[in-house]
Amino acid sequence: MRTRIAVLVSGGGTNLQALIDAQGRGEIPDGEIALVISNNPKAYALERAKRAGIKTAVCAKPDMEKKILEALAFHDIGMIVLAGFMAILSKDFVSRWPERIINIHPSLIPSFCGEGFYGLRVHEAALNYGVKVTGATVHYVNEIPDGGRIICQKAVEIRDGDTPEVLQRRVMEQAEWILLPRAAEIVAKSIRMERSTC
Ligand code: GRF
Repeated sequence: MRTRIAVLVSGGGTNLQALIDAQGRGEIPDGEIALVISNNPKAYALERAKRAGIKTAVCAKPDMEKKILEALAFHDIGMIVLAGFMAILSKDFVSRWPERIINIHPSLIPSFCGEGFYGLRVHEAALNYGVKVTGATVHYVNEIPDGGRIICQKAVEIRDGDTPEVLQRRVMEQAEWILLPRAAEIVAKSIRMERSTC
């Protein structure tokens, strides 16, 4: 049985698109993108989901987490992918989904990660430090921001004259959009294997 996946988004949704495209190519055989949840009703990611025929839900404040949990239960979700989800999930929420939530972070963890490192800030920090290589990481989500076990990483070169925007785009193209579908399949497959040994 394929694991039903919910993708949590807040913005443009290019990582969601990478997941949808990978699913279309048959690259996530153990999972099925069954629901897209946004905490932002204006997120373009919602349009991408609708275009692909995927169910959507908007779960905004107040009681965001309660609404998310209800949507996950209603749609019988088995695994969560955070793809540009710009809210921090509480310890209580995360502890209900051990090794069932994954996140994409646009740096090579443990560099430039943790509280306050999100969006363009991550790339600004890498450029300010002067590192020559950055990248992206997909990891399990636990109670420590960006602190869960690493699933996969990919390095990306920094070039002279890079701006945070240029670097962000290169990290997405060369790492994030490749890694996230791959990690989603790794986790969906491990859930299937766990089930078959019970
Ligand atoms: C990505 O860089 C992701 O790593 C970060 O937020 C950005 C989201 O982009 N967490 P998108 O909404 O998937 O286009």
